[in-house]
Amino acid sequence: MCGIIGYIGEKDIQKVLTTGLKKLEYRGYDSVGIAVHNGDSVQVNKSKGRLEELHQQLDQHSFSGMLGIGHTRWATHGHPSDENSHPHTDANKDFAIVHNGIIENYLEIKRELIEKGYTFSSETDSEVISHLFYHLYDGDMVATIQQVVKRLKGAYALGIVSEHEPDRLYAVREASPLIIGTGEEEALISSDIPAVLDHTRDIYILEDGEMAILTKDDITLLQTSTGEQLSRDIFRVDWDVEQAEKNGYDHFMLKEIHEQPEALKKTTAGRVNQERKTVKFDELQWSRDRIEQWDKVTIVACGTAYHAGLIGKHVIEELTRIPVDVEVASEFRYRRPIVNEKTLVIVISQSGETADTLAALRQSQHLGANVLAITNVVGSSIAREADEVILTMAGPEIAVASTKAYTTQVLSFYLLGIYLAQIKQTITEDYRQQLLQSILDIPNQMEELLEHSAALRRYSESIKDASSLFFIGRGLDHAVALEGSLKLKEISYIHSEAYAAGELKHGTLALIEEGTPIIALITQEEVSEKMMGNIKEVKARGAQVLGVSMQGNMDILEYVDDGCYIPESLSLVTPLLTVVPLQLISYYTSLALGNDVDKPRNLAKSVTVE
Ligand code: M6R
Repeated sequence: MCGIIGYIGEKDIQKVLTTGLKKLEYRGYDSVGIAVHNGDSVQVNKSKGRLEELHQQLDQHSFSGMLGIGHTRWATHGHPSDENSHPHTDANKDFAIVHNGIIENYLEIKRELIEKGYTFSSETDSEVISHLFYHLYDGDMVATIQQVVKRLKGAYALGIVSEHEPDRLYAVREASPLIIGTGEEEALISSDIPAVLDHTRDIYILEDGEMAILTKDDITLLQTSTGEQLSRDIFRVDWDVEQAEKNGYDHFMLKEIHEQPEALKKTTAGRVNQERKTVKFDELQWSRDRIEQWDKVTIVACGTAYHAGLIGKHVIEELTRIPVDVEVASEFRYRRPIVNEKTLVIVISQSGETADTLAALRQSQHLGANVLAITNVVGSSIAREADEVILTMAGPEIAVASTKAYTTQVLSFYLLGIYLAQIKQTITEDYRQQLLQSILDIPNQMEELLEHSAALRRYSESIKDASSLFFIGRGLDHAVALEGSLKLKEISYIHSEAYAAGELKHGTLALIEEGTPIIALITQEEVSEKMMGNIKEVKARGAQVLGVSMQGNMDILEYVDDGCYIPESLSLVTPLLTVVPLQLISYYTSLALGNDVDKPRNLAKSVTVE
C-alpha cells in the first residue's frame, strides 16, 4: 500500500531516498516525505501530493547526512495532508518512523498516550508508533523496539531512525513486506526490490516477526520477540533494472502490454516439451494418487487476479472435469468456506502480498487444504507460505493496472489444466497437442495484434466522453469482459459493467439507450449465434456496438458498428488474445482523458491492507 525506503551509507542521501521513492510510487502516491539524521539531529520534510512537490521544497532546503528514511503514502487513516504524511516523529524529534500497514489498536494507544500528556499532530494510526518509541525508550534500541511492537496489533513494516544513534537504521516486519539490500559500505531497506537495484542486487527478505539493524558495514537480523540472532542466505536479484523502467514507452502500462508476448514465452519456457507436446512442472511433485484425492479446486484472489481465476475455472473444469469454485478473497476469508484436505486451493496474486489473499491462504491451510500459489514475486509472503508455487515470469509490473501479470496468470492455468489432464488422462493426446500448439502460437499472434492498435486508439477517442459503457460476452468471453471492464473503470474513471450477454434482458437492458457504447466479445464459436441475438437486442435500443471477434469466424460487420479481429485460435485459448484490445482501449481512453495512466486515483499497486 505505502512505500518505504531507508538508506545508510556515504552516497547523497537525499538523492538515494527520492529516487527510491520514485520507484515505489506505484504503491501509493498521495503524500510523500523523508527524514534524515544529519549527525546532530533528525530533519523531516514531508508534504501532501507527489514527489515533485517534495522536490520543490527540498530545492529550498536540502538535507545531508548518512542515514535516512522515506515514505510514499496511500491514505488509510486520515485524508492526504502534510500532517498525515510520513515520516512521523515524537514531539522532540528523537525518533522518526515510516510505516506501511495498519495498526488496529491505535485508538486505544492514542487515548492512553494523550492521557499521559502526549499531543498528536496527525489523524494517522502510524503516529502512535513514534510517540511509543519516545515513551518506552530506555537507552537500548533493540529492547525498546521489542517493547513497542508488544503494544502493536495489526500489520506493520517499519523503518526507524533514532536521534541517539546516527549510525544505525532499524527495520521491523510484521505482515507487511520489507526487504534489506546490502551493498559496499551501504545498506538499504525497502518495501520492494526495484527501489534498491540502483545500489545492490544482494537482498535479505525480512520475515514476519523479524527485525534488522543496519550499519553501513553490517546487517544483523533478529527474531523481534526474543532478540535471537538469525542467519539468512542472501537472495541475488537476477533481473535488470531496465525491466522496471519505461524503456522509451510513454507509460509503464503500454510497455507492459507490449511485454506480454515475451512474458508468455518466459512463463512457458521449461514447462512445455515442444516435441512431445507435454507439460511438466518441476515445482509440483504431485502423484496421480495425490491428485485423485482432490475432489474440488477452489481458486481465491482479488481484482484482476480473480478474473484470471474465472478463466482458470473454465479451463480446469473443461480439461479435467474437477469442479472448481472461484472466490473473491475478501469474501472467502470471512465466511466458513467448505475447504478441507480434499481441496486443492489455488491463490493467485501478482504481488504475492495482497492481504486478503494471504489471509485466505492461511485460512485454507488451517482447514487442511493444500495451497498452490500462482504469483509473480519470488520471496513474497504468498510465495513463501504456499505449499507449492507456480511463478509467472512476467518480470516486474509497475503500472497499477495489471496487464502482463494477468495474461501470465491465465497462461499458468492453461498449463496447469493440461498438466492435471495429462496425469488424470482426461483429454486425448491429439487434443493436448492441438492445445499446446495453440498456446505456443499465442506470443506471435499477440505481436501481430499489437501492431494494429491505431484503430483502437480512434475508437477510444470516440468513447472518452461516455458516461457509461457495457462489455458483453458469453462463456470465456464473459470472464474476459469482466477484466476489460475493470481495466477501463480503473484508469479512465468511466463507469462500466460487464454482463453475461444472455443476462442483459433480465434488467440491465433498461439502461441501454441511443448511443450507449457496448463492447461485444464474440470469440466463442459455440455461442456466437446466441451472441448475435444479444447484439440485435442492444442495437434495437440504439447501442453503438464494437464487436471483437476471431478472424475468419464470421462476418460480424453485418451486425455491429465497428469490428476488431483477433488472430484465429482455439476457442479455449482466445482469452489470451481477446484481452489485448481491451487493455489497449483502456489505455488509450485514459490517455485521451489526460489521466495519470500508471497511477490512477485512489488506487495502489500492492494492497497490503484489508
Ligand atoms: O497483487 P495482486 O494480484 O494480489 O492484486 C490483486 C488486485 O489488487 C489487482 O489485480 C488489481 O485489481 C489491479 N490493479 C487491476 O488492474
